[in-house]
Amino acid sequence: MLRQRGEKQADGKWFLPPAERNKGPILDVLSRVLPTRGVVLEIASGTGQHVVHFAKALPGLTWQPSDPDPELRESIALRVREEQLANVNPPIELDVTGFPWPLQTTDAVVCINLIHVAPWSATLALFKGTRALLPTEHVLFLYGPYRRFGGHTSKSNEQFDSDLSAHDPEWGLRDLEAVSEAAASSGFLLAEIVEMPANNFSLIFKRT
Ligand SMILES: C[S@@+](CC[C@H](N)C(=O)[O-])C[C@H]1O[C@@H](n2cnc3c(N)ncnc32)[C@H](O)[C@@H]1O
Repeated sequence: MLRQRGEKQADGKWFLPPAERNKGPILDVLSRVLPTRGVVLEIASGTGQHVVHFAKALPGLTWQPSDPDPELRESIALRVREEQLANVNPPIELDVTGFPWPLQTTDAVVCINLIHVAPWSATLALFKGTRALLPTEHVLFLYGPYRRFGGHTSKSNEQFDSDLSAHDPEWGLRDLEAVSEAAASSGFLLAEIVEMPANNFSLIFKRT
């Protein structure tokens, strides 16, 4: 699986080096745009590095990690147990394309580095599923690399895009404008674009 899980450590946890590098900059944005209380659903939680970091820094929120991959859910559970975090629920199995999603409501949705490692149908499903959960004005946060105005924002993203489509022709960097249009059709307004390190972007959508 290309860059999906990273390395498995001897203790059973999975580790992705980019998650270690980007968790700080992402937290800076989340601290500003998330509510101070309530439940945050994280989609495609992966190794659990992010949710543990965010839950420690934002203790007023209850975090709900999820991933379709059972090995990654185990990794998340191990990290949460190790850190003894009371504000993280056990990880749930959630594939964005499988409806109905296994929860009824949430106060915010965070999804990091999913939509380029899944078919476009997953992006559409992400908006459809989130729309069913999220109250008006609440935040859907997406993070990842995107193409902008029909082109790549860096040589390294262009290379990454070719690697992704060589691995699976349905994977690849999405056009930020196409994502925004799909979001608008599903009832989300792109409220803010934040340029992030390493040619990534944070996209803050609000449910209209
Ligand atoms: C590149 S990893 C990103 C993991 C983590 N968010 C991070 O940034 O370190 C992509 C993640 O998407 C998950 N994933 C793939 N297809 C999915 C789908 N259809 N619905 C939900 N998650 C999916 C994978 O299991 C994996 O954990």
